Amino acid sequence: MEYTLNDTDFLVSQTDAKGKILFANEDFCKIAGYTLEELMGQPHNIVRHPDMPHAAFKDLWDTVKSGKVWKGYVKNKTKNGGFYWVFATVYPNIACGEGEGGYMSCRRKASATEIKKAEALYKTMR
Ligand SMILES: Cc1cc2nc3c(=O)[nH]c(=O)nc-3n(C[C@H](O)[C@H](O)[C@H](O)COP(=O)(O)O)c2cc1C
Repeated sequence: MEYTLNDTDFLVSQTDAKGKILFANEDFCKIAGYTLEELMGQPHNIVRHPDMPHAAFKDLWDTVKSGKVWKGYVKNKTKNGGFYWVFATVYPNIACGEGEGGYMSCRRKASATEIKKAEALYKTMR
């Protein structure tokens, strides 16, 4: 079942350099269906939806690893087997904690038109 975000929903998560979740805000936890405790320490693909093409995440990782900001549409899976679409902006080199910098993603609602376009594009990708 699709969960449609509210206009004011804003989902934030932070990871270490490998994509392990260090933090997720209330909206992220609520919509993904997990508590912060369940998410912390998990790889970010815990919310990966099988419909998402691998190439989208390769592009995401190539972009942030080279120090650039990645923007794109993401279909995520909820704990109870549902899904939700977001428009994500992923920032590189967030200096939180010690050692190598991590990453941060901020996500807003994707509109019905945006979702249609992303669905069509992702169907052509692997
Ligand atoms: C800051 C940050 C946020 C991410 N957010 C998501 C996300 O919301 N959903 C998702 O499927 N992958 C997200 N990823 C990408 C995952 O790390 C992973 O590459 C992706 O889920 C594909 O999983 P796989 O490599 O096991 O195929 C994020 C990565 C980073 C660095």
